[in-house]
Amino acid sequence: MTPSTQQVPRIVTPAPGPQSRALIDADERFVSPSYTRFYPLAVKNAHGLVLEDMDGNLFLDFTAGIAVCATGHCHPRVVKAIQEQAAKLIHICGADFYYPPLRDLARKLAEIAPGKSPKRVLFTNSGAEAIEGAIKLARYHTRRQHIIAFYGAFHGRTMGALSLTASKVSQRRRFEPLLPEVTHVGYGNCYRCPYNLKYPSCALECVTHLEKKLFKTTLPAEEVAAIIVEPIQGEGGYIVPPPEYHKELKALTERHGILYVADEVQSGIGRTGKMWAIDHWGVEPDIVCSAKGLASGLPLGAMIAKADIMDWDPGAHASTFGGNPVSCVAALETIALVEEGLMQNAADVGAFLIGRLRELAARHALIGDVRGLGLMIGADLVKDRQTREGAPVERDAVLQKCFSKGLVLLGCGESSIRFCPALVVTREEVETAIKILDAALSEVGIKS
Ligand SMILES: Cc1ncc(COP(=O)(O)O)c(C=O)c1O
Repeated sequence: MTPSTQQVPRIVTPAPGPQSRALIDADERFVSPSYTRFYPLAVKNAHGLVLEDMDGNLFLDFTAGIAVCATGHCHPRVVKAIQEQAAKLIHICGADFYYPPLRDLARKLAEIAPGKSPKRVLFTNSGAEAIEGAIKLARYHTRRQHIIAFYGAFHGRTMGALSLTASKVSQRRRFEPLLPEVTHVGYGNCYRCPYNLKYPSCALECVTHLEKKLFKTTLPAEEVAAIIVEPIQGEGGYIVPPPEYHKELKALTERHGILYVADEVQSGIGRTGKMWAIDHWGVEPDIVCSAKGLASGLPLGAMIAKADIMDWDPGAHASTFGGNPVSCVAALETIALVEEGLMQNAADVGAFLIGRLRELAARHALIGDVRGLGLMIGADLVKDRQTREGAPVERDAVLQKCFSKGLVLLGCGESSIRFCPALVVTREEVETAIKILDAALSEVGIKS
């Protein structure tokens, strides 16, 4: 039986209960120790926003498998599409053969991609792999080598993507040498400006700095293939840049023949209340990378490029599993659900959640900033609202308290709590989450 959200959360035994403990013990003997499990949560099944652990505890999930299960866990229409396709064709390899779901999804993504230029699509298995494709295509098309990325960025963990990632040093330690010819610059973060300026008197130093300093001193602009940017920085702390940021950055790329690549792996597919986060700024990227929410939990990534940019020759790039038929139908069903109403729900319930978090901020000095668009929302916990010094220890304590009360949340950035529930989330579920968070914040308070 699918537990109704009225009964959720329901903690019958503090996690990990005996069944969860047994699973975790075996897991920890055999699974790579490089994974960073923040809670002892062993999931048996999940529907909508409800997770059931091995011991019958019910949790309210505000992570959606890290912004992946866009339509909620096991949405019946997605499950049906997967089951029907699995009975017909599971794999044949899109790099070598043709099949309808691959064609249909490529056509759909080309249609919904930001901007009016014709697009083409390369399918991958993951977000990192979509980024790898973008790096390769940018180099191939421009015949330039250099890539610019941003401090705080997360683009994945494969060697090319990792070269752009600048989120946590533990992700890079002992893996060098990475890709050469990568330069990181400060992101448009007005809450903690990398240039210590204030918006709008800063005159967007976070963009102008490139031409004023970088291109004049260390990096010839004509050697830069691409700027790869998250429209809203995700792992870096759910940071929404200032209003003119993306338009100015795009204009700068156009002045220098540089490709503008939007990493929409976390922010895309309706999460921010528009199909793509970059749609909030009316910018047409040259390349868009998608994954995570694209197929509601089946592994799938896509690198969508302007057709005249995707000019590489047969054999230049491909993947055995990328765009397998089952993932493609899951994506088609996901996009249909997003278009039919989930994107609007993300906008509506997201605005409601931001409002409720701002009310909490009025009562809890720990919350320094609430920011986000749609259901990509961050609450930054601080030791002091004046200095804005992050409170990572308190943030982690709040997350643990929430977990013990049956609310699953994760952090992002140094000291933020991320809210990325499935796009099916209701106002009632938001109220439940807020109540738990309120109690957790009261229990933790600010430790001086
Ligand atoms: C913005 C962004 N890009 C790329 C990735 C990498 O995706 P994957 O883990 O599917 O390789 C992530 C994952 O968190 C991400 O948030």
